[in-house]
Amino acid sequence: MSKRLKIAIDGPAGAGKSTLARLLSERLGIPYVDTGALYRALALKAYRLGIREDEEEKLAELAKNSNIEFRRDERGLRVLLDGEDVSEEIRAPHITLLSSPVSQHPKVREALLKLQRELAKEGAVMEGRDIGTVILPDADVKIFLTASVKERARRRYFELKQKGYDVDLEQLEKEIEERDKRDATRNTAPLKMAEDAVLLNTDNLSIEKMVEEALRIVRERCGIK
Ligand code: DC
Repeated sequence: MSKRLKIAIDGPAGAGKSTLARLLSERLGIPYVDTGALYRALALKAYRLGIREDEEEKLAELAKNSNIEFRRDERGLRVLLDGEDVSEEIRAPHITLLSSPVSQHPKVREALLKLQRELAKEGAVMEGRDIGTVILPDADVKIFLTASVKERARRRYFELKQKGYDVDLEQLEKEIEERDKRDATRNTAPLKMAEDAVLLNTDNLSIEKMVEEALRIVRERCGIK
């Protein structure tokens, strides 16, 4: 398959975007780009510097003056913030929480737009919230991944438990619901499905079935037999 394919995967937290994007990238031989990691890295830097989540100008300046890069090694995709590997730190629950309000600011999103398009230039499986609608409106394939709140909370619960965090399932459900609402109703790049995206619900799909289904969509959309 073509190396320069641009595949956009959008959807709410916990729908399976990262898993799907990573596996599709392996199967198709196209780089994987996790755009949520950009907002997370920015949130981490703001946190360290004591910049508040409502300081839009400062956050946008920070975004412009930060160097966020992706590297691949045997552990998978690594995220470098000004040269420092922050791959684990950006997944901590307090940074997850902070990345949501940080990502709401139009100026912050604008500051990260060019970098995202640059990252997809040579082809990419790019996952996020506004890839099909804003970042890559001309993507070859757009998939909008969903799953019920219960299922997404359950997945996040096991993921965090495995990393040693003490979490509460009900609390996670509540947080996911709130985050969904905020992401869907914000003014800038709200989470919504692109008109030409294909909806894929992962509630009752195994990972293997999800990947197979996505590959079928890619083949169909790109006219590949
Ligand atoms: O996908 P994630 O959980 O790593 O994303 C972290 C935060 O960044 C989340 O609150 C949504 C936001 N985000 C966004 O607004 N736009 C994107 N393209 C990707 C993530």
